[in-house]
Amino acid sequence: MIKTTELKINAAKDPRKVRCDALVVAVGQGPDGPELVDGSLGGKALQALSRSLGVLGITGAADEVRRLPGIDEFHAEVIVLVGIGQISAAADPTEEKLRRAAGSAVRQLRGVGHVALALPAASVRAAAAVAEGAALGAYAYTEHRSAKDAGDVVAAVTVVTPAAGEKSLPAALERAAILGRAVNATRTLVNRPPSHLYPETFAAAAQDLSKNLPVKLTVLDEEKLANDGYGGLVGVGKGSSRPPRLVKVEYAPARAKVKLALVGKGITFDSGGLSLKPATGMTTMKCDMAGAAVVLNALLAIAELGLPLKVTAWLCLAENMPSGHAQRPSDVMTIFGGKTVEVLNTDAEGRLVMADGLAAASAEEPDALIDVATLTGAQMVALGSRVSAVMGDDGVRDAVKAAADRAGELFWPMPLPEELRPSLDSQVADLANMGEKFGGMLTAAIFLREFVGESNGRKIPWAHLDIAGPAFNEGAPYGYTPKEGTGVAVRTLVAYAEDVVARAG
Ligand code: BES
Ligand code: MN
Ligand code: ZN
Repeated sequence: MIKTTELKINAAKDPRKVRCDALVVAVGQGPDGPELVDGSLGGKALQALSRSLGVLGITGAADEVRRLPGIDEFHAEVIVLVGIGQISAAADPTEEKLRRAAGSAVRQLRGVGHVALALPAASVRAAAAVAEGAALGAYAYTEHRSAKDAGDVVAAVTVVTPAAGEKSLPAALERAAILGRAVNATRTLVNRPPSHLYPETFAAAAQDLSKNLPVKLTVLDEEKLANDGYGGLVGVGKGSSRPPRLVKVEYAPARAKVKLALVGKGITFDSGGLSLKPATGMTTMKCDMAGAAVVLNALLAIAELGLPLKVTAWLCLAENMPSGHAQRPSDVMTIFGGKTVEVLNTDAEGRLVMADGLAAASAEEPDALIDVATLTGAQMVALGSRVSAVMGDDGVRDAVKAAADRAGELFWPMPLPEELRPSLDSQVADLANMGEKFGGMLTAAIFLREFVGESNGRKIPWAHLDIAGPAFNEGAPYGYTPKEGTGVAVRTLVAYAEDVVARAG
């Protein structure tokens, strides 16, 4: 069961009428030093406070949170100043700055019950960004904590905005809550230890998250996978005492004109298999199912939003372990649909299970195909731990990048250089699972491309998202991003689906 502590979100116009435990006000780094950003709050006391920021040692830098005593004119126990980073007189803070400031404040105010966020959010979109940041900041993973107060995240927020009362605000706040739920459920699946989350229990969790939503779930167990020819999942899963699963989740509303397929890498633990990882390379490998968690929760959010497009998500679930039953380097497997692959390195397992997923998804001839995977260490070499890569056909790739920009997630387009393709040639099979090491992220993507099928004689438009680094935050929390599972890519996929719907008219 995934318990998501539901943040209550509402909106109000007048901060003086909000009764709360903490009133959050933004401080920006202006050209002349720190300044309170929302002038509309007014009041002498706040003006005095604005003048004292320098001597209080408050800079306005992102993630700075400072609690001060309450001020008479507000019904708040404390005034909280949150840094929003650089501001300019010329432009309002970006939606992402608002999301991060709201998220940072709510995250750092754990233990406080009701928080009012009086950030500079004049429009419905800006107010929704504040709500979304708050929902993302109100997260803690506590399933295995014995302390009773371990889960005391902020329970309710009031977004203080002049847009309160506007007709489109309730739906925008509801969307923020849905996104928050989807991202937080993704985080919880990623954070859940591999002792508890393995293919069978992942499938059960997917079932549990889907209930009450208009989606259909089909679970293919190890027997079915073997009978139907899913050689990638069977091969990778062979070394583990916990057998693989392929979970297919379908959302098919009546009015849909477009059909989107999503495929996610769901390696519930990646030890490397017989090509065993060094101990240090294994410590974060519970995160190797993030892609599957992302596509599942993106689909569920799309269903909850009621977007009029068909979406099918394929969760490729296996545990990559070494044992006497494990696949060996040199083994050859047959992927769903008939292509053969020689396994040169059992640690390049993601592309094997994804090959099955991509081939199965392609057989249904979707209009577009997007896969999400913590696929390569090379992703982190290329782009670091906060920027995800998007590769594939120009159209889908650019549409994903545009959606990510709107969602406030960092993605960067990467190429698929043709000269890397021959490095995947095998002596004995159609393909090898390992090729050129330099540009290894691109080589992996080119491997996946081989399994994208055709529809009406044309290659299905496809994009591949490598989220190896960004899926799991090994550093300190920042903005609305906690330690460990981040849930990155959920909001991008939902934004992409919204854009597809908008374009389809
Ligand atoms: N799950 C890893 C990739 C990864 C590394 C994800 C670090 C997140 C953080 C993947 O299965 C893997 O082991 N890839 C190998 C491929 C290589 C053997 C061709 C890699 O990147 O080293
Ligand atoms: Mn691996
Ligand atoms: Zn892996």
